[in-house]
Amino acid sequence: MNSTIQTLLNHKTIRSYHTTPIKEEVFNTLMDVASRTASSSGMQQASIIHVKDQKKKDIIAQVCKQDYVAIAPILLIFVVDQHRNHHIAMEVAQHANHTHDVDRFFQGFTDACLMAQSVVTAAESLGLGTTYLGAIHNDDETLIKTLNLPSLTYPVVGLLIGHPNIEPTLKPRLENSLRVFEDEYVSHQEYLPLLKHVDEQMQNYVDTRNPGRSMPPFSQQVSERMNYANPIRLKMGQNIIKQGFSFNLDE
Ligand SMILES: Cc1cc2nc3c(=O)[nH]c(=O)nc-3n(C[C@H](O)[C@H](O)[C@H](O)COP(=O)(O)O)c2cc1C
Repeated sequence: MNSTIQTLLNHKTIRSYHTTPIKEEVFNTLMDVASRTASSSGMQQASIIHVKDQKKKDIIAQVCKQDYVAIAPILLIFVVDQHRNHHIAMEVAQHANHTHDVDRFFQGFTDACLMAQSVVTAAESLGLGTTYLGAIHNDDETLIKTLNLPSLTYPVVGLLIGHPNIEPTLKPRLENSLRVFEDEYVSHQEYLPLLKHVDEQMQNYVDTRNPGRSMPPFSQQVSERMNYANPIRLKMGQNIIKQGFSFNLDE
């Protein structure tokens, strides 16, 4: 055990922040951490937009349908970024034939996710709270317009950072035996009997972030989520293509 592992094992999403600003030197350190993260082929195919303009923060809070997005001291949007490398390759060789490929898209997507998680770990190690915002995809088009994202970029995930105004308890997880396999994937005939423990834990879990709202069993949460789709989010594929990427499905 060490303090890094302690930080990771103590992770909780924070959904309420003090307005106290984050010191510039802390912000700069977090950005250095992001920059130091491993990147596919060393191509650094992701970038970060630090959203400071209050009007833009308000728009993103509306997209996310979460008020505190507008209040948290730091709002970051991690983006797939092949725009920069496309230009670099054009300047060097006057052609850049493979900056829009599905492979490049996912290299950038993975880079963005890893950068975000490095920042989360670093921020939490400093006692700060964080919230991932997948909800930015509730309206990709508005986000792309608001952040002026050029071709060959695409928003991956948002991240809030601030001083926590709440101390939630740890949210239950599946047992490792259901997610960690040896040598090959293990599929079960019936999952519900194997979920008894986590279902119970979830029901007993008091989510201080949503006081008064009881938590359904995990299996019920899965069933509800897997039977719902936000129609706008179903257009993510089209939005990625509109940003200039190609999934090479015809080849
Ligand atoms: C990619 C990703 C997107 C997420 N998007 C949101 C979001 O839009 N809003 C939110 O409140 N939490 C969001 N979360 C946080 C999850 O809801 C949270 O991690 C999960 O419920 C487990 O809780 P815990 O982080 O406290 O352990 C997101 C997490 C991930 C990894």
